Amino acid sequence: MDLGLRGRTALVGGASAGLGRATAECLAAEGCKLALWSRGGEALEAAAEEIRRLHSVVVVTIAGDATDPATAAKVAWQAERSLGPVDIAVLNAGGPIASEATRTDPDEWRRSFQLLAITPIELATALLPGMRKRGWGRIVSIMSSGIRQPIPELAYSNACRSALAAWLKTIATEVIADGVTVNGVVPGRIDTARVEALDKARAEKIGGTPAEVRAQIERSIPAGRYGRPDELAAYVAWLCSDLARYQTGTFVPIDGGMLRFLP
Ligand SMILES: NC(=O)c1ccc[n+]([C@@H]2O[C@H](COP(=O)([O-])OP(=O)(O)OC[C@H]3O[C@@H](n4cnc5c(N)ncnc54)[C@H](OP(=O)(O)O)[C@@H]3O)[C@@H](O)[C@H]2O)c1
Repeated sequence: MDLGLRGRTALVGGASAGLGRATAECLAAEGCKLALWSRGGEALEAAAEEIRRLHSVVVVTIAGDATDPATAAKVAWQAERSLGPVDIAVLNAGGPIASEATRTDPDEWRRSFQLLAITPIELATALLPGMRKRGWGRIVSIMSSGIRQPIPELAYSNACRSALAAWLKTIATEVIADGVTVNGVVPGRIDTARVEALDKARAEKIGGTPAEVRAQIERSIPAGRYGRPDELAAYVAWLCSDLARYQTGTFVPIDGGMLRFLP
């Protein structure tokens, strides 16, 4: 199936690893030019180099920390300066720390809100006017199942991402008439370094090994296993495609059946 993405320009966050990197690979395979960003360093450059080699597309990198209030404007500006107008923005970066929900910290709230809400909101806000003017755009945010069913040890994530989801849902109705769709994807448990670290933290908290924690969680997933990053990335690429032009304001789980309620 031709997703109609050849020649489009995509800005992908958290692109040095995990879900962001898998998404970048999928969009490159569809012929997109890419601006990849994360805090930067060797992993980001290596991801860019590998994608250029495999897919022969233009890939630029931008270093920026999503917890820094100056980052969104800088990333948007650098992406457009390097590649021209951005058609697709995949909003994604790292996750916040785990904590006990009844023992949170005001500074950590501010840091998490910047990371998970303000930076993606500012990034989308900077790119939306151009998308609307050109009559075509895609905003896709990588969220968390915590926006549908709060995860006990991830209070910062549950709350801050819910704010982002509410904002995305609000703008989705405003920009669809200009050819811009706004959607979120809700990962259940996808096998990345982040999930490995969370399993380790849970093992330390309750006793046992990370492998035991993983086996226990896998038993609760109808598919019987964690997902693979490419299984989520394929759906993100679909949301970015021209074919998905009538889909907006949705937050679809990619979770092997983990969430049991109806949408
Ligand atoms: N995997 C899952 O099943 C799952 C489930 C629910 C939610 N999520 C969320 O989905 C997002 C991606 O997760 P993942 O599993 O792909 O994690 P990951 O494998 O740890 O990758 C995180 C990516 O974000 C970048 N990053 C981390 N902190 C950053 C910051 N402060 N500013 C900019 N970039 C930053 C990292 O690169 P650098 O180190 O180069 O900055 C890396 O590219 C996270 O927000 C995570 O919480 C994932």
